[in-house]
Amino acid sequence: MSQTFVRACALSELEDDTPKRVELDGVPVSLVRTEGEVFAINDICSHANVSLSEGEVEDCQIECWLHGSSFDLRTGKPSGLPATRPVPVYPVKIEGDDVLVSVTQES
Ligand code: FES
Repeated sequence: MSQTFVRACALSELEDDTPKRVELDGVPVSLVRTEGEVFAINDICSHANVSLSEGEVEDCQIECWLHGSSFDLRTGKPSGLPATRPVPVYPVKIEGDDVLVSVTQES
């Protein structure tokens, strides 16, 4: 399956370590700018229906505010309980001031 990138927002709209929730092709995505990179992770915690973009970002991880599982922004893997399943992460491209994300193929 080929990847289709869609524009998610402007790079200048993203503040460091402040997640931004967007919806791309019906998929809720949390965009995170941190450590000089932009990451896209599915916005819904794998433990329950909680928006990860309302959590804190630290050490390239996003923390679910409800029960405290953190997910690696590069892999989507949880670093601790109660979540055990990863959250999908998506490829990101930066073109000029545009942040492009592909939600058509999980990486
Ligand atoms: S809902 Fe996210 S860890 Fe429980």
